[in-house]
Amino acid sequence: MVLCQASRADPIEEKVQLCNACHGENGIPQDVQTPVIWGQHQGYLYLQLRDYKRGTRKSDPMSTIAETLERDEMMALAEYFAGKPWPRLGQPSASDAVAAQAQRANVAVNCTGCHLGAYQGDGTQPRLAGQRREYLVKSMIEFRTRTRGNNPGMSDLMLSISEEAIAACAEYLAGLQ
Ligand code: HEC
Ligand code: HEC
Repeated sequence: MVLCQASRADPIEEKVQLCNACHGENGIPQDVQTPVIWGQHQGYLYLQLRDYKRGTRKSDPMSTIAETLERDEMMALAEYFAGKPWPRLGQPSASDAVAAQAQRANVAVNCTGCHLGAYQGDGTQPRLAGQRREYLVKSMIEFRTRTRGNNPGMSDLMLSISEEAIAACAEYLAGLQ
């Protein structure tokens, strides 16, 4: 006799579909100010969801969405998206001049001391390589103005470099893989 077991829906499946509507079915968000979360590190993803819920990081869609999530759902979603491959957005590599300017910022504040070699990140340090350029600029400027208040250390660092350097870093990072 064959026992036919009813397939049980994945408990976070519905949430994942909601996330995919903006973060992309294939991991590539449609809107340029929506970050890639596929392949981002689990610890970092979890902390962001927690911070949106706490209110130390604010965003129109994300604050409302995070309010509805319990801790174990945030953990499961972070694990799920961290397990996906990072998508290739195909953004162009920076020119030598822009890369040199980004490198000067790195020498000044040691970005790669935290974001690690080739800006791949790990744990609670986000990967920046290949993230969307427009989003990178927005997030760095929001740290700089302390609009994004969930990491005062990053705000201090962003205040110590110019907006021009920030734009160069974003262009350089977007062109990495
Ligand atoms: C309506 C569109 C929308 C939906 C739906 C959505 N997001 Fe987002 N998400 C965004 C935008 C826009 C941002 C950037 C907000 C900001 O600048 O703080 C973002 C940011 C994030 C970040 C921060 C990433 C980083 O690099 O700092 C995480 C993590 C995240 N979303 C996870 C999720 C998860 C998990 C879901 C599903 C439960 C979800 N999002 C659903 C639009 C959306
Ligand atoms: C002392 C460690 C440290 C240094 C140095 C540092 N960062 Fe960060 N950075 C972090 C951490 C930790 C976060 C995540 C903060 C959080 O949890 O929101 C972050 C977040 C970011 C983000 C937001 C990523 C996202 O997905 O929203 C960007 C962009 C960024 N850093 C760029 C840089 C650049 C460029 C430099 C050098 C000019 C730099 N950082 C230097 C630790 C650092």
